[in-house]
Amino acid sequence: MKKVFVVILSVLLLYSAGSCKSNNKAESKIEKSVFGKLADGSQVDAYVLKNTNGMTAKIITYGAVVVSLTAPDKSGKYEDVVLGYDNIEGYAADRAYFGAIVGRYGNRIARGKMTIDGKEYQLAINNPPNSLHGGVVGFNKKIWTVDGANVTKNGPAITMTLVSNDGEENYPGTVKLKVVYTLTNNDELSIVYTGATDKTTVLNPTNHSYFNLSGDMNNTILDHEVMIAADKTTPVDRGLIPLGNFADVAGTPMDFRTAKKIGRDINADYEQLKIAGGYDHNWAMNTYDKKVRLIATVYEPNSGRFMKVLSDQPGVQFYTGNFLDGRVKGKNGVMYKKRSGLCLEAQHYPDSPNKPQFPTTLLKPGEIYHQTTIYKFSH
Ligand code: GLA
Repeated sequence: MKKVFVVILSVLLLYSAGSCKSNNKAESKIEKSVFGKLADGSQVDAYVLKNTNGMTAKIITYGAVVVSLTAPDKSGKYEDVVLGYDNIEGYAADRAYFGAIVGRYGNRIARGKMTIDGKEYQLAINNPPNSLHGGVVGFNKKIWTVDGANVTKNGPAITMTLVSNDGEENYPGTVKLKVVYTLTNNDELSIVYTGATDKTTVLNPTNHSYFNLSGDMNNTILDHEVMIAADKTTPVDRGLIPLGNFADVAGTPMDFRTAKKIGRDINADYEQLKIAGGYDHNWAMNTYDKKVRLIATVYEPNSGRFMKVLSDQPGVQFYTGNFLDGRVKGKNGVMYKKRSGLCLEAQHYPDSPNKPQFPTTLLKPGEIYHQTTIYKFSH
């Protein structure tokens, strides 16, 4: 009898411990600290957002960079899943755009030329022969202003703003861009952009995080299984500028409509892959009605980590870290080698300013630019 009682008591205790665990949520909070100082003495701050599950996102005022982002593995262990640097010196010297908000125009503009209202603009050629990610001093190299850092009902959120002056990097119009990062209590990093201009210009920002869901950046991403909800890509020339046509992915290594390992076809004898040294292309999403929908998923089988990418953007640049070459020292002293991270940059198609057949990236005075992109983690 006594034994039965002990067993019942233990079961009750175990049960209450279990239910306690599910209610035992961490406190959602934001912690601010000094990340470092740039060579000119200006201070860069860091904000660590923590949700009720214990997931964290560290964001700095330089480039609005996501320095670290933790996500749960199959046993519920949260580990960092993005590439980055340990200090501000790393970001100041960065050429890979780790974690940054890039702009004014994310991705490439052919020969840095565009014509707006009959006037031709020559932008910086910082990725010969083209302009890339906003030019020499893009949004990734600027100090952003923090307009608010609060724990909201959805989770901790930080609002960052940037003013890009008329003529900066030769783009017309003063652009004001606001980015709200929210680390929701559903383990999502939500990024909401709003922007406005005082002269007609182009605006196409994106977040340039490199993910490696294994949590160990010494691994490549070749085993990651990726799905992209697109029947077509925009094939490119040798400078990675879209030719202007759309190509069916069916029957080619570009077909990610059903999840497959990145490594399965990446080395295929296929011209588009040879040109880019791997995947570095724009997928044109099947639907584009400005509503947020699922555009891609990533699964890493060893850790069991799963990431969904949701966005209202017309395209996604899927990039497999082809330019990483083992010479960049990242967080914890890891030398990032080729294919140690993957990017899924929700955005408009590259070179849209010169491709009238692509959805427009023009922003006129009085209009509001809007983008929502969400990286959602589970296991
Ligand atoms: C984007 C581009 C790539 C490369 C990276 C940064 O993903 O499409 O070609 O420039 O940014 O290295």
